[in-house]
Amino acid sequence: MDHFNYRNGELYAEDVAVADIAERFGTPAYIYSRATLERHYRAYDEALKNRPHLVCYAVKANSNLAVLNVLARLGAGFDIVSAGELERVLRAGGDAGKVVFSGVGKQEWEMKRALEAGVRCFNVESDTELDRLNKVAGELGVKAPISLRVNPDVDAGTHPYISTGLKENKFGIDIAEAPAVYARAASLPNLDIHGVDCHIGSQLTSVSPFLDALGRVLSLIDTLAEQGIRIRHLDMGGGLGVTYNQETPPQPADYVKALNERMGDRELELVLEPGRSIAANAGILVTRVEFLKCTEHRNFAIIDAAMNDLIRPALYSAWQAIIPVQPHQDSEERPWDLVGPVCETGDFLGKDRALRLKAGDLLAVRSAGAYGFVMASNYNTRNRPPELMVDGDQVHVVRRRETLDDQLAPESCLPE
Ligand code: LLP
Repeated sequence: MDHFNYRNGELYAEDVAVADIAERFGTPAYIYSRATLERHYRAYDEALKNRPHLVCYAVKANSNLAVLNVLARLGAGFDIVSAGELERVLRAGGDAGKVVFSGVGKQEWEMKRALEAGVRCFNVESDTELDRLNKVAGELGVKAPISLRVNPDVDAGTHPYISTGLKENKFGIDIAEAPAVYARAASLPNLDIHGVDCHIGSQLTSVSPFLDALGRVLSLIDTLAEQGIRIRHLDMGGGLGVTYNQETPPQPADYVKALNERMGDRELELVLEPGRSIAANAGILVTRVEFLKCTEHRNFAIIDAAMNDLIRPALYSAWQAIIPVQPHQDSEERPWDLVGPVCETGDFLGKDRALRLKAGDLLAVRSAGAYGFVMASNYNTRNRPPELMVDGDQVHVVRRRETLDDQLAPESCLPE
C-alpha cells in the first residue's frame, strides 16, 4: 500500500495534489512519500520483532539523503556498496555500527574508510578480497568484522540482469567452497568472522527461492560449527519484489514468517537488505506531455521525461504503471507509446498504454522510488530532475533540479 491515491478526481501524494507540485516545481520531477517509506520499513521491523534482527535498507535503491534520514530516524541499518554510499549514510545521520558493506570490488581506500567509521560488517565476496581486507585492517591495527557472501546456486526466477545467486554470476563465493574459505578467513589475524551472507536476486515474487537459499546456508552454518567456526548472524540480502503490474509478491510479514519457521530456534540474528520493497512504491516520476504525434502505425506521446531520467524500461524492458494525474474525458482513449526527447529508439517509458491524452497533460510513472533517480544520467546533456518529498501536506525539495552550470562545472576546454 502506498500514499499516492486519487482524491476528488485527481492524483494526490499524501495530502498534496500532484498537479500543484508539478506547477510549483516543474516537470519532470520525482516525488517521494515519507509515510510510504516509513510504512514499508516498519513492515519489516515489526515482522522481525521476535528475533534479534537488523533491517539494512539497500542504499543503492534510492540514496537521497532525505530518504536515508527518514529511515535512520526509525533506527534502520544500511547496506552499502561504496564509500560514497557510506558517506551518504553518515551525512544522513545513519549509524555506521548498523552498516553492512557489500560489493565485489571494494577498493583499499573504501575499506579503510569503512573500518575507520566502524561499520558493522563487511560482506566479503572473494578469497582475494579477504587478503586485501586483512592487510588494510592490519595497517590500521584493527580487526575487520566479516561475513562471506556465499552463492547458493538457486534460480531466483527473475530477470537475468538482476538475478545474482546462480553459479555463473560474478557475485559471492561458491557455497561448496565456502567451508575452505571460512577456514582461511579464520586463520587471518586481522579478520573476525561474524556471519554468513547471501543475496540471490531482485524482484522475487515468491518465497521459495529464498527458502531454498536459506536451507543451503543453514547447512553451511552447521558445517562451519563442526569446524569450530561460530556464526552469529545470517544476512539473507534483499530481493523481495513489488507490484509493478499484476505481480503478487509476498508481503514482508509473510516472507519473514517463512524465514523464521525455517530458522526455528537457532540463535541467529537475522539481517535483511531490502531496497526495492521499501522505496519503489514510495515514489513516482511526474512528467508532462509535450506533443502528440500520431502516425499510420503508432501513436506517440512525447513527454518531458526520458530514458536518462528513468532507465528501467529501456534497460530491462521493465513495465511501470503510467497514470493520468488529472484524468479527463476530453479525448478518446487510444494506445499510446510514451516516449522521451532523447535520440534513441529505446527512449520510452511505456508502450501501448491505453490513455486519454492531450498535449499539456500530466502523467505519473508509478513505482519509481527505487532504481529511478539513482540510475539517472545526463545523457543528451539533460539536467536530472529534482527530488521532492511529501510529508503530509508539506512538500520538501530534497534535491533541487540540476542546472546546466552544475553539469558543465567539472569540464574544461584545452588550453589556448
Ligand atoms: N543487497 C545486495 C547485495 C544487492 O545487490 C541488492 C540489489 C540489494 C541488497 C537490494 O535488493 P532489492 O531489495 O532492491 O531487490 N537496478 C535493478 C535492480 C538491481 C538490484 C541490485 N542489487 C532494477 O532496477 O530492477
